[in-house]
Parts: sequence; structure tokens; C-alpha cells
Amino acid sequence: MSGSVGSSQGLSVRGLAKHYGQTPVFQNVSLDVAPGEFVAIVGESGVGKSTLLNCMAALDTWDAGRIVHQGVDLGTLDGEQRAVWRRRQVGFVFQAFHVLPHLDVSQNIALPLMLQGRRDDARVAQMLAAVGLAGTGARLPQQLSGGQLQRVAIARALVHRPALLLADEPTGNLDPATAGKVMELLTLQTREHGASLVLVTHSEAAAARADRVLHLRADGIAQA
Ligand SMILES: Nc1ncnc2c1ncn2[C@@H]1O[C@H](COP(=O)(O)OP(=O)(O)OP(=O)(O)O)[C@@H](O)[C@H]1O
Ligand SMILES: [Mg+2]
Repeated sequence: MSGSVGSSQGLSVRGLAKHYGQTPVFQNVSLDVAPGEFVAIVGESGVGKSTLLNCMAALDTWDAGRIVHQGVDLGTLDGEQRAVWRRRQVGFVFQAFHVLPHLDVSQNIALPLMLQGRRDDARVAQMLAAVGLAGTGARLPQQLSGGQLQRVAIARALVHRPALLLADEPTGNLDPATAGKVMELLTLQTREHGASLVLVTHSEAAAARADRVLHLRADGIAQA
């Protein structure tokens, strides 16, 4: 595939810098996440955690540095190649969920499979049950609570067994017991299926499950 660099596995970020116009967000951000590894990122509101995840998903651009996933240098991919890479490799739990309002719950969860031309009703049902939403598949998002919507977003991020799992405050709207179940699902995809998990969180309970906790600051990222 074009953009291949060596045979490196997992995710590698090197010297990443990002500005919005004249305003710097972060610089000198470097980290590695191996297959099967779970890295948590913490940091103050507004420091750029969501921006960094968006860069790792090639949903945003950066001004300096490199992001390489399983040998693919994301900076060398054009828009179409990025979209194809993302569909195959990435599961993303957005901070604001981004559940599609006109699709029902099952259709929202099935979306990553549909985008790959796959249909797997059993897998969708399995994910619905796994996030505690069995029986809600035919409902529209507006008929769900905030925590239920967050669980739809988590099921959608996992349904296609992505190699790179990026989650932005995935337990922010959940009670501790439900949050614990969701963390089990995210870590299962990591520990048993070898995904690289990058999770942004303010939750100490969630960060406690990580292999490493990194603190994002304007001038870089370091062990918390
Ligand atoms: N599209 C944009 N245009 C200009 N500035 C932006 C844009 N998106 C984000 N920013 C700014 O970039 C900075 C980083 O935002 P980001 O959303 O990544 O922070 P965050 O660490 O995720 O914060 P939080 O913990 O509140 O979610 C903020 O100062 C924000 O105001
Ligand atoms: Mg954020």
C-alpha cells in the first residue's frame, strides 16, 4: 500500500504539532501504542486531547510531525485513502457521540460494517446486548438517554473489530457500574484482539485500567 514505512506495528506519533490559525494547540507530541496496549491521555480542558485523537484518526490535519499506523504514514494519504484506511482500521467514540439521528439504533451500530459492504445482523445484536441495549435496536436516537446514546457510539466503534480504537471520554455520561462494563468491552478488543487503544478521560477509574497514563500539555506529552 502506498505510504508504507517499514514494518512497524501499532500506532506511532512523532513530533506532532497543531495550530488553529495563529493559535498553537500543542507541539512536540510523541507516543507509541503497541497492538494490545491501552494508553490513557489526560489533560486540562482545551489542551487539545480531542484534537489529538482527531489527528490520530486522520480526521484532522497537523502542521508538523508524523503519524504512522501499522507501517502506513497517514500524512502521505489523500482524502479518499484516509477514508478507506479509517473504515478498515479505526473505531472512534466521539466526545459528542455523532450518532446519526435518522438511523435507528441498530443501523447506527451497523454503519461501520455497511461502509465496508458487510452485513452481520448477529454481530450487531451481540454488540447491542454487550452495551446493555438489547431490545432498543429499532428506536431512534432521540428516544434514548445521553448514557444510552454514548453506549450506541461505543457499540458502533467496536462492531467491526478495529485495530485502532480511539475513545474520547467514553464513560463521561455513565454511572460507575455501566462505565465499568464499557471499559471491559474496550479492553477486551485490546487484550484479546490486539487493538491499540487510546482513551481520553478524566475518570480515574478508567485511567487506572490503562498500561500507561500520559499527560498532554501545550509543549508535549509525558508520563502522568
Ligand atoms: N475548529 C477549531 N477552530 C479553532 N480552534 C479550535 C477548533 N477546535 C478546537 N479549537 C481549540 O483548540 C483547543 C483544543 O481543543 P480540544 O477540543 O482538542 O480540547 P480538549 O483537550 O479535548 O478539551 P476538553 O477536555 O474540554 O474536551 C481549544 O483551545 C479549542 O478552543
Ligand atoms: Mg475534548
